[in-house]
This record gives sequence, structure tokens and C-alpha cells, in this order.
Amino acid sequence: MPELYDTPASPATFRRRVLSWYRGSGRDLPWRHTRDPYRVLVSEVMLQQTQVARVLPAYRRFLDRFPTLRALSRAPLGDVLREWSGLGYNRRARDLHRIARRHSSVPRTAAELDDLPGIGAYTASAVACFAFDQPTAFADTNIRRVLGRALLGRTATDREAIALDARFGSRRKGARWHHALMDIGATICLAKRPRCDACPLRSHCDYDGDERLSRRKQSPFALSDRRVRGAILRHLVRSPRGVTVDALRTGISDPRVERLVGTLAREGLVEVSSGTVRLPTR
Ligand code: ADE
Repeated sequence: MPELYDTPASPATFRRRVLSWYRGSGRDLPWRHTRDPYRVLVSEVMLQQTQVARVLPAYRRFLDRFPTLRALSRAPLGDVLREWSGLGYNRRARDLHRIARRHSSVPRTAAELDDLPGIGAYTASAVACFAFDQPTAFADTNIRRVLGRALLGRTATDREAIALDARFGSRRKGARWHHALMDIGATICLAKRPRCDACPLRSHCDYDGDERLSRRKQSPFALSDRRVRGAILRHLVRSPRGVTVDALRTGISDPRVERLVGTLAREGLVEVSSGTVRLPTR
């Protein structure tokens, strides 16, 4: 762990720059106009693995269809997966549906949120902050890059970024602070070609253009398994009465189809009966 107290800016000045930049240049995103914990939860789950531009239309459609946790709990999982289709990482939809069936409201604290299916420490803290104004420290990739580069001279690890966030972040304006860092990361402090001349933190920043931290890569195998899973679910979305495993194998022509249908069935994302695979009917 680097020495976090030997950093180039006073936390108060650093914080002021970040917040005042956000007032004039932050992104106007629909989930930032609500404190409804269900809406915030849906947005954060969608944003876990999907880019903002793709989440925008999906978020609106999903909430039109399932405007409350109760509405989501009443829908068959198949309908939820159908609505989710296109966003990928479909386990997220199943987990949201499970949350809706098990809880009548979204829990308030990061610890309780962390216990929900599919919700890790990051999403739990983000929802506690954005929906309930709790003073939580957390960091996504953008926040790790912005705080890390400015204060350590390179992208921070998750632990480092959380420690920096706890020290430099605004407790009173936690939502705006975190949104601002995300936006600086998404629009200025870009991974490859940062636009340092437009950065509100340039006079406080330690980054010299040399990332000494290599990025962890997902294995190519994991990626292609995910693609095949996505292809299976897309087939099922188009075939409400289900399809045979043979038809899936022919349609997708990948040797992993059978195994991945088994995995999807164990995860509750598909139903298999008498050789026919379909989206869950309950
Ligand atoms: N990524 C994760 N949460 C986000 C948010 N609230 N706004 C923009 N990007 C995000």
C-alpha cells in the first residue's frame, strides 16, 4: 500500500475542484434524477458490465415494463429475461428478479445490500450512496483511474482507490462526488489518450503518462463461453415455445451448447423438459 498521506493536494481543494467541474460539465443521466432505490439498483446492475450508451434505452424500457420491485416480482422470469435480452450477462436479470421475489423493498445499508444475490461490495456501496445518501467509499474502473493517476501517478488497485476515496471524498455530497469522478474518467481521464488539458485536476495530478499497472485480462475462453450463452438465450427469446437441444446445436454450431444449456438450467435461466429448452415460465 503506498503512503496515502503523502499526496499532492489537500483533500479539501481536490474535492472542491472535482465538485465544481461536475456542476458545469457532469453528464445528465436519467438515474441521477431519482432517489428511488429500485431505479438506482436497476441502473447500477445494468451498468456493472454494460456501457452507459447501451444502458440508456434499456433502462427506460425495463422501467416502463417493470416500474416497481413489486411489478418485477410478479413477472415470470422469462419476461424479465426477454426484456433484458441485448444487454448480455443475463444472470443479472435473474438476480434482480430473485431480489424482487425475496424482498418487498430495497435494503438501505451497504452490508444488507451486499447480501443480495448478484450484488457485490461495489454495487452495494454505490446504491447505498446514490439512493440513501450513506457515506460510503467505493471505486469502479473510472474512479480507480482518476484517483489513482492524480494521487499515486498510476491507476489504483481497488483497495488503494477505496482508501483514497475515503480520505478525499465528500461525505456530505457523496453522490455528486462519485458521479463526478466517474464522468472525469469517462470523458477526460481516458485509459489510452487522456485529455489532460481539459482536466480539472491537472494542477494536482501526478500522472506522467506511464501506466505501470498492467490491466488484468479476461481469459479468451471465458469470453467465448459468455458469447455462446448469449446466443442460446437469444434463440430462446425468439422461440417462446422452446427449442430442442439438437436445434440449438445446429443453430449455434458450437460444441459447448449442450454443456452450457446444462449450466444455464442449473442457474435457473432456462428450463429443460423432454429435450426442449425454453425460458423459464414461472
Ligand atoms: N457506472 C456505474 N454507475 C454509474 C453511474 N451512476 N453513472 C455513470 N456510470 C456509472
